[in-house]
Amino acid sequence: MADTKVYRASTTAPVNIAVVKYWGKRDPKLNLPTNSSLSVTLSQADLRTLTTASCSSSYTDGDSLTLNGEASDVSGARTQACFRELRSRRAALEAVDTSLPKLSAMPVKLVSENNFPTAAGLASSAAGFAALVKAIALLYELPDSPSELSLVARQGSGSACRSLFGGYVAWRMGDKDDGSDSKAELIAPAEHWPEMRALILVASAAKKGVSSTSGMQQTVATSGLFQQRISKVVPANMAAMEEAVKGRDFAKFAEVTMRESNSFHATCADTYPPIFYMNDISKAAIRAVEAINAKAGKTIAAYTFDAGPNCVVYYLEENASTILGTFYPVLAEVTGWKEGTAGIKSAVEIDGSLVSTLKEGISRVIMTGVGEGPIKTEEYLIDENGQAVKR
Ligand SMILES: *[C@@H]1O[C@H](CO)[C@@H](O)[C@H](O)[C@H]1NC(C)=O
Ligand SMILES: *[C@@H]1O[C@H](CO)[C@@H](O)[C@H](O)[C@H]1NC(C)=O
Repeated sequence: MADTKVYRASTTAPVNIAVVKYWGKRDPKLNLPTNSSLSVTLSQADLRTLTTASCSSSYTDGDSLTLNGEASDVSGARTQACFRELRSRRAALEAVDTSLPKLSAMPVKLVSENNFPTAAGLASSAAGFAALVKAIALLYELPDSPSELSLVARQGSGSACRSLFGGYVAWRMGDKDDGSDSKAELIAPAEHWPEMRALILVASAAKKGVSSTSGMQQTVATSGLFQQRISKVVPANMAAMEEAVKGRDFAKFAEVTMRESNSFHATCADTYPPIFYMNDISKAAIRAVEAINAKAGKTIAAYTFDAGPNCVVYYLEENASTILGTFYPVLAEVTGWKEGTAGIKSAVEIDGSLVSTLKEGISRVIMTGVGEGPIKTEEYLIDENGQAVKR
């Protein structure tokens, strides 16, 4: 009798926010970067993608993906590259052990959900591709390590490779043309420096102007400053950041984080025509962080911005009352504050014009911190009959 069983596996995967930025591809097709990068993986209690992967010979519509309740196109080259790589790894296992079910020949059905709004700039593609790759790898029972799987996730979305690990993660650029050495590597697990916190200030109109893929290629092609960045700035920042993380040196971590963000956005401004991801709200957030550090007399908070106006503020738990006590009084009305925050007494007073810019421009906050890598779960978004679970 034909095998019509529905095979399933589920995982969650985290968002990561880079502190040494990925910007520029040396090979757009394989998503090979011009430099290495480094990120902090954020806690999945606050930000995660949950994905169930299933396959069955009874599926008749080919491969499919439902994301947050809506059908999503899987015909794109990046998704196809992930499917192809994972299938070929499964097929290799099936060739060795002929008793294994031939999952590699079956259509794949994926259902995926984020626990955060898919608003721009929240790195949802990183968590999304990491979860997709990990879920299919579990489904196929692949023996591959997170670093091996990161090679596959990278082809879906560059920064996704870093979401295969928790804690502090480097994406080594590698030098091979086929990309086989361009993968993620653990610098330190979350337990090494568990006190790291992140406050994300989500800007209201966070719709991206220029997509990061086309933005970075315009920068590579036109910015003179970018050449300086990849030959000098990034290598120095990578080395300094690894040292800061290994030595749990927050002041150093913070300074490199802020300089990196500034350098990245400077190359965006130096792109011709220029690209602006930060806006007045972003700039007000920078000034607020500077006010916090000035009052503390040392660096206890760091800002960083990706390809959008949202501000991520990194700080240590021991200084939470100062950071939260500065932003909460200004943004008390927006959603996202955790219980207990309202009780913190106000800390640093920030300039009135910044207050009104932040009040008008920030629509929500996300309070989170460093967290774990993908976690296999028994929570399924596809039932035993292959139907998407109604939630
Ligand atoms: C960054 O890229 C430049 C130019 O390709 C290279 O010389 C440098 O070694 C790279 N360094 C790192 C840390 O990525
Ligand atoms: C930051 O935390 C350290 C350790 O608890 C403390 O000594 C310092 O006063 C804090 N600084 C501020 C400004 O909160």
